Amino acid sequence: MLTCAKSIGELALLLMRANTAHPVHEIIATRRSPRSLAPEAALSDIEIISILEAARWAPSAFNGQPWRFFLGKNGDATFTQILSSLEPFNQGWAKNASVLILVAAKTTRDDGSIHADFQYDTALAVAQMVFEVHNLGYVAHQMTGFNRESAQSALDIPRDLVPVVVVAIGKQDHADKLAPALAEREVAARTRKPLTEIVLRGLPV
Ligand SMILES: Cc1cc2nc3c(=O)[nH]c(=O)nc-3n(C[C@H](O)[C@H](O)[C@H](O)COP(=O)(O)O)c2cc1C
Repeated sequence: MLTCAKSIGELALLLMRANTAHPVHEIIATRRSPRSLAPEAALSDIEIISILEAARWAPSAFNGQPWRFFLGKNGDATFTQILSSLEPFNQGWAKNASVLILVAAKTTRDDGSIHADFQYDTALAVAQMVFEVHNLGYVAHQMTGFNRESAQSALDIPRDLVPVVVVAIGKQDHADKLAPALAEREVAARTRKPLTEIVLRGLPV
């Protein structure tokens, strides 16, 4: 896309935009997972509730809604507990997030039977959360690089739930605030496998 940015904000958005091979909604093209987060930023409670509400309205098998959320705001005890469960690499940048959400899931249905689709359903809820975060002008970065056992005990997560993912949410900051190797990754173009590799049958030619 050959366009001239009129401001730093616009330039940042252009850098974030995926070079999609076919047109898609702007929110899909511009969402990405940055690591440079502004430590002084904060989300309002209204914004936080909107993000959770977006996740709440995700579809799920038999409308089972197995997702459960543990949310910490930077500086509170829940934030510190989630942060402490992250791998050191993730701690290094996620400490500047405004909000950390540990997403857990119920592995059994309300009738006690095994919920075979709990991971699938929960990922859908996180996807909706992430798009709402982006819609509100913040960024979200999902992480499975955390210790589930230490998260479970630090947060006192009931044993009928399993921790699935941690989502860091915040305001994107300048890439050059990261260490050089990470800064380079931060501004690299987003890439994906071509449709010809992932659509094994039925791709229109
Ligand atoms: C399930 C999941 C786990 C991830 N875990 C980590 C992680 O532990 N640390 C990290 O820095 N990024 C993590 N990521 C971010 C991915 O690396 C990132 O989404 C991917 O490189 C594509 O980049 P994009 O989201 O900017 O398009 C994770 C993403 C997902 C969906």
